Amino acid sequence: MSTRHFLTLLDFSPDELRGLIARAIELKTWQREGRIFEPLKNKVLAMVFEKSSTRTRVSFETGMVQLGGHAMFLSPKDTQIGRGEPIEDSARVLSRMVDAIMIRTFEHEKITRFAAFSSAPVINALTDDYHPCQLLADIQTWFEHRGDIRGATVAFIGDGNNMCHSYINAARQFDFRLQIAAPEGYLPNADIMATAGNHITLSHDPMEAAKGADLVVTDVWASMGQEEEQRIREKAFNGYQVNADLMAQASKDALFMHCLPAHRGEEVTADIIDGPQSVVWDEAENRLHAQKALLEILLTT
Ligand code: CP
Ligand code: NVA
Repeated sequence: MSTRHFLTLLDFSPDELRGLIARAIELKTWQREGRIFEPLKNKVLAMVFEKSSTRTRVSFETGMVQLGGHAMFLSPKDTQIGRGEPIEDSARVLSRMVDAIMIRTFEHEKITRFAAFSSAPVINALTDDYHPCQLLADIQTWFEHRGDIRGATVAFIGDGNNMCHSYINAARQFDFRLQIAAPEGYLPNADIMATAGNHITLSHDPMEAAKGADLVVTDVWASMGQEEEQRIREKAFNGYQVNADLMAQASKDALFMHCLPAHRGEEVTADIIDGPQSVVWDEAENRLHAQKALLEILLTT
């Protein structure tokens, strides 16, 4: 049987994704009740981080411990990965020792190459192009607050980046409508958009995109690796801030999400991210529960 990976949301069927979300909600309840559930006893997850992280690292490591296993943090600085050992060799070696490998890196092509040579499941913990684990948490959060997301309208305001691409995949897999507003020069990848067909619309008008939305999402204007573009991006994204005026375009009971970390006063104002429509703390916590469901699927089925 070929090895199962989770590199984008398209690696799982819509039914599998829905099952995963339901399981994540159940595991969250069990966690709250203090129930011990250790299906991953003696299993080891290697975590390769080529970019910084708070949520992803802590949620995967905590999740593995709660499921009875162990997680190992690997930084390129302290491993041969950072000294130029071929990715294909690292994949073959690591996957002969551990049970799953989680990778956060730059080029998406790097993780697909790693996965092609890995005999253990590989999980995408963020690349320049996608952040599928974050979407599992976002969708779980929606389900908890509002029920099924099928047929809902979601507005993504800002950079056509890894989060935006994963929202495009989610619109397709979970069957919702996605209204994207991004400035010229920062649009999502046209090939990725093309796969989602009429689930998505794209404009340069944030107010238009937010109109009637049940959920408003944004992300930083300069992602990891783009720090030097901060100033130029601040100019390009002028007018793309999620603030009270923009939220007023959305449905009255619209939710607000942001994968975090956030920059108050840039992509979102403090009154919105810290206000009653924001569910960002549930969203952050759900990284733990959703990824536990993901690990369970990849390592026990
Ligand atoms: N949202 C997210 O992935 O956060 P970290 O960069 O802290 O892992
Ligand atoms: N788009 C952001 C997400 C961080 C979780 C980045 O890639 O830096």
